[in-house]
Amino acid sequence: MAAFGTQFMPNMAVATFKDNAWSNPQIVSSNSISLHPGAHVLHYASTCFEGLKAFKHEDGSVYVFRMDRNIARMQQSTELLHLPKFPAELLEGMILSSLADVVNDIPAPPSSMYIRPTHIGTEAAIGKAASPSNSSMLYVLLSQVGAYFSGGDVALRLLIEEDSMRCAAHMGMIKSGGNYASAMGPILRAKEKYQADQVLFCPQGDVQETGAANFILIDGNEVITKSLDSSFLHGVTRDSILTIARDLGMDVQERALSVEELLDRASKPGCEAALSGTAAVLAPVGTLIHEGKEHVIGNGKPGPTTLKLRATLNEIQWGKREDSHGWLRQVIKA
Ligand SMILES: Cc1ncc(COP(=O)(O)O)c(C=O)c1O
Repeated sequence: MAAFGTQFMPNMAVATFKDNAWSNPQIVSSNSISLHPGAHVLHYASTCFEGLKAFKHEDGSVYVFRMDRNIARMQQSTELLHLPKFPAELLEGMILSSLADVVNDIPAPPSSMYIRPTHIGTEAAIGKAASPSNSSMLYVLLSQVGAYFSGGDVALRLLIEEDSMRCAAHMGMIKSGGNYASAMGPILRAKEKYQADQVLFCPQGDVQETGAANFILIDGNEVITKSLDSSFLHGVTRDSILTIARDLGMDVQERALSVEELLDRASKPGCEAALSGTAAVLAPVGTLIHEGKEHVIGNGKPGPTTLKLRATLNEIQWGKREDSHGWLRQVIKA
């Protein structure tokens, strides 16, 4: 299968906001959109997006995972960016109709259909640096994605970055393009200088998240991750993994985690760390690089608890384990 997110389904659902009203959604070609070069999004980054997945079960039925959470987060991003608000039912209907359009292309596990709702400010107005776009476009792109770990599990190397932030503190819980642009420089530098895979942003020693995933520390029966605040993205996978860990009787602690405590715990035998996100689900972390020194986590290999938590979540998504929290919603019958 092609690299993650590089091949798109030929059609997409789209709706536009103009003259204070949303249009009826339509299924159109995903080949291109037409935008004025002065469109607000192209100059002032009025853009937000989401990422969620649809899974095909053994009997041929299709389910989306925690779609309500992603829609609510997109509504929150929209509101915080002052883009035109949309009702949850609009986006929900667009996701459902776009999936119905590609019923035969939804792959079986471990592959899935990745769903990328996107909302952009389209008003042609380059004088609106400090005021919102009064028109917008909402669309839902689909892309088949394969197993993230098809080459086998490798434990990631993270550079601990205490001097810079992923994005402006008040923007962290918005899933917006500008935040990824802001994190790009530090990530590229970390890759080049330390052969790091990702940067773990820890402004003033506060362990937050990486460029595109949440960070979870697992130390024996303890699961530790930063408690929710406006400085970082509230991952749906993070919430799901914490819920599964609680179900398994683990001691889940949502609280501040300092770099000092992280490094102190990391070197102990049995310690594990992982990155959570829709794409990778739960990716093991093997090494932390801090002030030029490498700290191996546990034995530096993917940890057993990380793999167990990931397998449990995957089994729920794939219909092989009871969905006791009602996270799956059937969108296509067998
Ligand atoms: C910055 C950032 N943090 C965390 C996440 C994980 O969020 P989720 O689990 O909802 O995919 C993502 C990924 O989408 C992200 O881009």
